[in-house]
Amino acid sequence: MRAVFVAVLIVHTFLIKAAESEGTDCQCGKVLNRKTNDDQSGKTEGFCSAGESEACTVKENKYEQRINAHDGMAMINSGTFAVGTNQPIFVADGEGPRRNVTLDDFYIDVYEVSNRDFEEFAKATGHRTEAEKFGDSFVFEGLLSEETKSKINEAVAQAPWWLPVKDCNWRHPEGPDSDILDRMDHPVIHVSWNDATAFCKWRGKRLPTESEWEVACRGGLVTERLFPWGNRLTPKNQHRTNIWQGVFPSNNSAEDGFVGTAPITEFPPNGYGLYNMVGNVWEWTSDWWVTEHSDKPAKNPVGPSSGTDKVKKGGSYLCHESYCYRYRCAARSQNTPDTSAGNLGFRCAMSI
Ligand SMILES: *[C@@H]1O[C@H](CO)[C@@H](O)[C@H](O)[C@H]1NC(C)=O
Ligand SMILES: *[C@@H]1O[C@H](CO)[C@@H](O)[C@H](O)[C@H]1NC(C)=O
Repeated sequence: MRAVFVAVLIVHTFLIKAAESEGTDCQCGKVLNRKTNDDQSGKTEGFCSAGESEACTVKENKYEQRINAHDGMAMINSGTFAVGTNQPIFVADGEGPRRNVTLDDFYIDVYEVSNRDFEEFAKATGHRTEAEKFGDSFVFEGLLSEETKSKINEAVAQAPWWLPVKDCNWRHPEGPDSDILDRMDHPVIHVSWNDATAFCKWRGKRLPTESEWEVACRGGLVTERLFPWGNRLTPKNQHRTNIWQGVFPSNNSAEDGFVGTAPITEFPPNGYGLYNMVGNVWEWTSDWWVTEHSDKPAKNPVGPSSGTDKVKKGGSYLCHESYCYRYRCAARSQNTPDTSAGNLGFRCAMSI
């Protein structure tokens, strides 16, 4: 089952190659235009850029109240929202078409689930994660000690920077010689979809559907934008998310301040008051993976009734435009529900 993780990586690497070669012939114009037009001036609902104006402060306070009232969650009011895009970067991922979904009111966690949260869960329930049961998990090579690396003799053929590390799990994110003591406020990683589902259930919550997640990511922006805050990756030259700067996979210059995960409270929130919807860690959703979507409007869509992989959204600290330009709200990827990795976490949602 876990072999699928490898297969998915290979497919992605292949697609990236395709994207790169498109970049060297002529498709690049489209991509560039999309990044340079705008933003900050786009019409928004409840959108605050770095919280300057008085109106924004008021709005942020409103979100604080909502957050405090509902177990660290923000309420997204019911409505009809557009998800997906008609200008997909990775067509094969099923990023399109753009379509309307009507959602009931729901709550979604303001932050990714942290190590501290997960420890509370593990203590209360005795839950053992799948990585703990399997006895290994996938880690990005650049984060491992020489000693840990020296013990590994397999790698993912097409993505050799992913290494299966023995005795690696959420408590030991880079293997036995690592721990989480100095990152209790970072997102929990090495948790499978099954682990994430169990955590949310314990909290009286559930995973968000892909549609809910994407609507939450878009942060109330009325027009289609790439990122939760707009179309510019670094508006006013400020980093808004934890992704890879430098040359992937050899040189992470960490201009955003982080080589690996960042605290769940880092970077300004989006218009709904949500942090790190893109970057930092990929987030599980409840939907099974499928790449064909109807463009017909749908009400509270939950995805197909069965499948082999679950949808994950948002990209991670390992994503770089050259390799994994998936830190966009419309972007998506997948893993089997028992997969875990050092860049994959989650947040929960709740119906009202
Ligand atoms: C989505 O709804 C808007 C507003 O009603 C409408 O203008 C638009 O055509 C719809 N898009 C699709 C793909 O149905
Ligand atoms: C990594 O990138 C940074 C900034 O882009 C550069 O200053 C540095 O020399 C690079 N390091 C290596 C080892 O290539």
